[in-house]
Amino acid sequence: MKTKQSGLPNLSELKKVAELLSRSQNTVVLAGAGMSKESGIPTFRGEGGLWTINGEPPLNQYEIFLDNPKQWWAEKFAPADTDSFATALDQSKPNQGHHALVQLEQLGIISHLITQNVDDLHRQAGQLSITEIHGNRYWIRCITCNSRWPKKSIMIQQEFLPPTCELCSGILKSDTVMFGEPIPPNLLETCHNATQKADLFLTIGTSAIVYPAAQFPIMALEKDIPLIEINPEITPLSEFALISLKGPSGQILPEIIKLISKIHSRKV
Ligand code: OAD
Repeated sequence: MKTKQSGLPNLSELKKVAELLSRSQNTVVLAGAGMSKESGIPTFRGEGGLWTINGEPPLNQYEIFLDNPKQWWAEKFAPADTDSFATALDQSKPNQGHHALVQLEQLGIISHLITQNVDDLHRQAGQLSITEIHGNRYWIRCITCNSRWPKKSIMIQQEFLPPTCELCSGILKSDTVMFGEPIPPNLLETCHNATQKADLFLTIGTSAIVYPAAQFPIMALEKDIPLIEINPEITPLSEFALISLKGPSGQILPEIIKLISKIHSRKV
């Protein structure tokens, strides 16, 4: 097909990206909220974004937690109105974009995925090499030793709050990183090491303005690792990307997989 596909970048741009990916054995991805848009989860910023509509949450969330972790946990037990964001998260399923990234991992192209999303959808799709740099809403973490457990494997008793770590007695909190909370250093190290080894870097559905996550594509650029971006809007990275594919990742990524399959079938 030679004509531009509706809502998608032109075919020659898609083909270039498919060629680059098919030659890569070490692509590192930084994913953001836009990745889950086709799963029905709103982004934070930009058109229709949660914070564009409701305003940003308080920037001292972690300080509030540290001041009184017992109260924070007690509030978790109180009956609450489920907001539309929580409902969207609860009802979400991985979309075609998530599945395409799993295929790229299985093909030996993606070596590591750094996701800022806490929605668990990359895991549910089957992605194996993954760093959830902002945590996972279904996990619990110790703020002292950074050990993590699935929420459902931990019994939290209302009479003994805050819950503490069985390994080091540190306080447990939701794994989701709060505003003002440092990212666990072991996660940053994994992302750093993966980026250093990358031969291609792909950013998908992120405004690329939240640090330290946004430092990894910049680190890649500083090492002359080619950067590809998938995002319907312009971001601070767009001008530095070798190719910036404008459109929804849930549609673009499956198209790229189809083109890679064609490239592979030509080689056999
Ligand atoms: P943002 O909400 O800042 O940005 C979402 C990006 O997705 C925007 O650049 C959109 O243009 C793009 N987008 C929208 N629809 C899309 C689609 N269908 N396909 C692909 N891209 C699309 O989200 P993040 O960059 O992930 O942190 O935000 C980073 C962090 O900001 C979040 O992890 C959150 C927040 O602080 C924490 O909660 C700790």
